[in-house]
Amino acid sequence: MRNFHIFYILSVLVLGLSISSCKHDPFLQDIDPTPIDTSDNPVDTTMQGTPCDPDLIYFEYDVLPILISNCAFSGCHNAASAEDGVVLESFQTVMNSDVVKAFDLGDSEMFEVITETDPDKKMPPPPETPLTQEQINIISQWILQGADNLECNPDLNCDTTDVSYAAVIRPILDNTCVGCHGGSVPSGGISFMTYAGVKAMADSGQLLGAVNWDAGYSFMPQGGNKLPDCEIAQLKSWIDSGALEN
Ligand code: HEC
Repeated sequence: MRNFHIFYILSVLVLGLSISSCKHDPFLQDIDPTPIDTSDNPVDTTMQGTPCDPDLIYFEYDVLPILISNCAFSGCHNAASAEDGVVLESFQTVMNSDVVKAFDLGDSEMFEVITETDPDKKMPPPPETPLTQEQINIISQWILQGADNLECNPDLNCDTTDVSYAAVIRPILDNTCVGCHGGSVPSGGISFMTYAGVKAMADSGQLLGAVNWDAGYSFMPQGGNKLPDCEIAQLKSWIDSGALEN
């Protein structure tokens, strides 16, 4: 009798399952498995993430490159050295290092040390090149906007026509490269402080090879993420047009 009950319950379950799977079959049969190219369809942009808002600071694209090129190297604030227990290699390590308090510059040690006037407390420590006012502003604004890790897609609406050295190329180099490739002892003997230095690396092919992570070149920015595709395309377009001081 007991066995019969179990058999009965199982039959009902199996029947229920087969009915519900029957219900879905017509939908599955209607799907054409051929991939459809929707890249020209404007609706598709919603699938590619949010465009970056010029009024917002994005940790990944705005703040991290400054930290990678000015703070997060060996002997200082990379994970291996962790001077004073501070690691500035990623969003997570920055937050874990407890140097930033969201919305509060006065309580954020990171803001204090980059604006410090006492050479014994200032970061980066002299004779390292201090952060520029623009870089200090980016970090301050990021803290005042909540020290978040906002996401956006920097490759949407990418403009690679008539790329200007002053308006487009200089800011990329200043924020991601000059911390290493500047000052009195530039990394690899390569300085991007002047147009002449940039032009030489553009003409030799090394500038594009390094940021494009081409075989045979050192991958730049060293220790950082690859530049967004849009910035690489802008660098390429500028170089292809003669790397002018425009
Ligand atoms: C954390 C420090 C650091 C940052 C940031 C950095 N570099 Fe470098 N770069 C180096 C060092 C060190 C070398 C020399 C040793 C080597 O080639 O790896 C170098 C070498 C290079 C070379 C020569 C590579 C070759 O294979 O000929 C180029 C070109 C270059 N960097 C461009 C850049 C550009 C462009 C950026 C910014 C997008 C950048 N670097 C950011 C440290 C850095």
